[in-house]
Amino acid sequence: MTIKITGTGSALPEKKVTNFDLQELVETSDEWIRERTGIAERRISTGDTVATLSAKACSKALEMAGKTAEEVDLILVATCSPEMLLPCCACQVQDIIGASNAAAFDLNAACSGFLFALNTAYVYMQAGIYKNALVIGSEVLSKLVDWSDRGTCVLFGDGAGAAFVEASAEDIFRDNGRKVSMECMVQGSDGTKGMVLSCAERSVDNAFIAEKQTISPYIQMNGQEVYKFATRQVPACIHEALDKAGITVEDVDMFVLHQANVRIIESVAKRLKADISKFPMNLDKIGNMSSATIPVLLDELNRGGRIQGGDRIVMSGFGAGLTYGATVIVW
Ligand code: ACO
Repeated sequence: MTIKITGTGSALPEKKVTNFDLQELVETSDEWIRERTGIAERRISTGDTVATLSAKACSKALEMAGKTAEEVDLILVATCSPEMLLPCCACQVQDIIGASNAAAFDLNAACSGFLFALNTAYVYMQAGIYKNALVIGSEVLSKLVDWSDRGTCVLFGDGAGAAFVEASAEDIFRDNGRKVSMECMVQGSDGTKGMVLSCAERSVDNAFIAEKQTISPYIQMNGQEVYKFATRQVPACIHEALDKAGITVEDVDMFVLHQANVRIIESVAKRLKADISKFPMNLDKIGNMSSATIPVLLDELNRGGRIQGGDRIVMSGFGAGLTYGATVIVW
């Protein structure tokens, strides 16, 4: 049996917001933002929602896979910024694209969300429950950002990426002898560090509570703690995944990491003793889109012809929760 990604797609809002635009909002500079994060501009929604961006990305992924929406078995949307609690975003996507035969639900593992959703889809397929899935990472974080907080507003952007994943009964071997597969996945969480990166939705409120609690609805972050977590945990979980798969860093063609920060990615490459050229990046143009960064980058690489059949790719996500994961696939 082979499980493979046969289509990718992405969707970004039209509006570009540069570091110079942000200089008009908060006390910051293009130089500070580029040096500390690697980000030059990001896309910001002026009306797109998590569901509409997801649906656009899904349509492109389905077109590439040569499938119709009716053929989709499962829709998983990884998001931490849905506009609506009910119905879930995946059901809204089902409605927009007309995937009337799919089961659909959301999953929130923040910046690791796409990977956790991809792993979930793989497990459903390995169990023979579904034959295919649309796996989506989609965020409109701009509504969760306090645009007067220079510590966070410079980091994030909006966008969505999708992958269509299919199972087939036969094994597929590429020219380099590698079998198309998901070789292994590692997932982990550390809830004790949850408040390092948080965003409240609403407090407990009902007819039986006299004193109302006021909460900030915006993202709160201890940047240095997130940095320490990412640079320690990501290399560790990639090593764990490689060990499980019985391979080494040299056997990997490409590392598709969550695009939070250039310095984090450079540090991970250094700790893994891997050449930085194996770590494609696009965050200079689109910033950190949480669960959307990995599928958007994957789509960019796929459409740009930078992924060949038989390439071994390690995807790794890390973020609020705290959550982290690494998945090794052969394309
Ligand atoms: N422009 C100018 N100055 C700023 C800005 C800004 N946008 N933001 C903060 N500063 C100032 C601070 O106020 C502080 O000033 P002070 O010394 O006068 O108090 C100074 O810069 C240093 O602040 P630090 O927070 O110590 O800056 P640091 O070097 O840690 O960089 C950053 C901050 C970029 C957030 C860094 O901690 C980081 O990369 N952390 C990882 C967090 C991350 O990537 N989060 C993304 C979301 S989580 C995820 O996706 C996994």
